[in-house]
Amino acid sequence: MEREKLFHPTLSDIQVYADKEMAAQAAANEIIKAVQENPKIAITYATGDTMIPVYEALQRASQQGVVDFSNTTAFHLDEYYPYAPTKEFSFVKFLKDRVFNPLSIKPDNIHTLNGLASNGDIEAERYDDLLRKKIVGITLLGIGPGGHIGFNERNTSFTSRTHLAQLSIQTVYRDKIERNQDTPDMALTQGIETILESKRLVMVAYGTTKGDYLHEALDLEVTETCPASALRLHSNKVSMFIDKDAKLQIELNRSKEAV
Ligand code: F6R
Repeated sequence: MEREKLFHPTLSDIQVYADKEMAAQAAANEIIKAVQENPKIAITYATGDTMIPVYEALQRASQQGVVDFSNTTAFHLDEYYPYAPTKEFSFVKFLKDRVFNPLSIKPDNIHTLNGLASNGDIEAERYDDLLRKKIVGITLLGIGPGGHIGFNERNTSFTSRTHLAQLSIQTVYRDKIERNQDTPDMALTQGIETILESKRLVMVAYGTTKGDYLHEALDLEVTETCPASALRLHSNKVSMFIDKDAKLQIELNRSKEAV
């Protein structure tokens, strides 16, 4: 597959592909390789539009018998709260439909956040305890408004663990106005420290808006103001799969700052 790299002083693995399908396929290939090497690997899955083509690629590979996910363990990054797992925009539902069922992951190996738990703080603690007991081999990440990862919004502590989070105005606007979702403005999310404990971090992003988020995360200060900038504290375990549009936008921002 054609690819180039985006230069970064500390992140040496930012792979650039001609379009989103190719970037998604390349990210999926990383996951497939990791499962082939360790069939019992624990994976934290992200949700959202970015992941749809990645999970389609995983499904194709699984159907073709190239890879067997049945003995892997599954975690996920976040879930709206309070929100039922049967509702249209539930992240648990998203993953059941696109990952857990099609990849035949054993129910006992699937660990989900309960968006209907009566106490969100206790639910967050329960989930974090599970994660502390497991080595997560790969965590898939997208990037959202304000450079959020999971639902860690601007000014979330880099030492945060799984917690109940208030979504930012930008995220709520995206969800309710742009995407017409009936979702609440709070969510359970793995914390930044929790995410960074994964052995590998695979971020996927396409398009110019994501290019702007990535520019802030990659090229400006490493600061809690930009949650995704925390990835630079663990540059040796980060791989990014982006498309040309995102790369161009990053470079456009860089060129403006160089003037
Ligand atoms: C979802 C998640 C979020 C998304 C981000 C981008 O599990 O963790 O951080 O990755 O909001 O969302 P999309 O891909 O829909 O643009």
